Amino acid sequence: MSSGHEYDSITVEQLRASGRYKWTTYPDAIGAFIAEMDFGLAPEIAEVFTPPLDLLMGYPTPAIVDAMAEACARWQRDAYGWDVPATSIRPVGDVLIAMRAAIDHFSAPGSKIILPTPAYMPFLKIPPMHDREIVEVPMLVEDGRYVFDMEGLDRAFADGGGMLILCNPHNPTGRVHTREELLAVSEIVERHGGRVFSDEIHAPLVFAPHRHVPYASISAVTAAHTVTATSASKAWNLPGLKAAQVILTNEADAAVWATPVVTRNELLASNPGIIANTAAYDRARDWLADTHAYLERNRALLKRLLDELIPGIGYEPGEGTYIAWLDARPLGIEESPADFFREHAGVALTDGTACGAVGEGFLRFILATPAPIIEQAVRRMADALARR
Ligand SMILES: Cc1ncc(COP(=O)(O)O)c(C=O)c1O
Repeated sequence: MSSGHEYDSITVEQLRASGRYKWTTYPDAIGAFIAEMDFGLAPEIAEVFTPPLDLLMGYPTPAIVDAMAEACARWQRDAYGWDVPATSIRPVGDVLIAMRAAIDHFSAPGSKIILPTPAYMPFLKIPPMHDREIVEVPMLVEDGRYVFDMEGLDRAFADGGGMLILCNPHNPTGRVHTREELLAVSEIVERHGGRVFSDEIHAPLVFAPHRHVPYASISAVTAAHTVTATSASKAWNLPGLKAAQVILTNEADAAVWATPVVTRNELLASNPGIIANTAAYDRARDWLADTHAYLERNRALLKRLLDELIPGIGYEPGEGTYIAWLDARPLGIEESPADFFREHAGVALTDGTACGAVGEGFLRFILATPAPIIEQAVRRMADALARR
């Protein structure tokens, strides 16, 4: 199943030798559980790490912070047609720090956090750390696609919900919400005077014909009730460098962000991360296009392999992200399916229950790996099922 791409020749042994989390946490298993890519670093970003290195070791300077904001603004405009001024874009250590700041400073104490589920695992853990109760609103499945339960969202706001956590493109289901869906959400939020934290970290990884629509870009209403966070860290694989962007689309939020207690979050962004994000948005677009095409082929490959070797498993190829959301319920595995495949197939996946109660019986499989490794993983899973 070789596509002839150079990524095909990257081996498990090389990945293990890299020492990365994905390949050392379970030393005997194929790592498919954490959202890291196995494709190395774009040369245009690697150049940032050539001497002189002194600037990289310092605190963020206005010059590099402004350069990242301008690069992010250019990316938003060129990739999604969103004309957001660079002055509205601020640095932060990572997207989860942005989420924590948004909960603390833009949701009322005692209000509840509304979370459509299944959800990215930390989203279930963070709000309670900030004294906020979570209201899970399970998404509905229509024609195999996960969609918002609009009535459920409405009820959650009526029941004391203050801030909705939006994740678009969606981890773990791979959905890319349409403008119409987002507009319908915005009407509910606005009717209740609610807020939205919009995590758009996977936006560069959307597959045609789907298109990423930045939630805050839809209307003056969405701009006024939203705090957006994004980063080059998923699409260009830089999560260890710690830099992301908060996009503030109304004056009141920008004023709150500018207060010392909130601005301190900016100091958690690292210079290497800031400079690498800037290079990613401006100079590593060809690398992204090539990697994006590879991921698109991987998505189709996984579908073909599962249909052939594990036809019982449910898989709708995602509209975006490099995350596959597999419905293992029809396989009739009695224990946690992730434990089963780790133990009997040597494939480390995320158990769907980590994404909320509705994830029971599901698995998260990270597709950002060489195609031969996907094939090896699926064959091992099929063999383990056959040996039961
Ligand atoms: C939807 C989503 N948000 C946030 C993150 C974490 O991003 P960061 O490392 O910038 O906090 C991830 C990582 O996989 C993610 O999938």
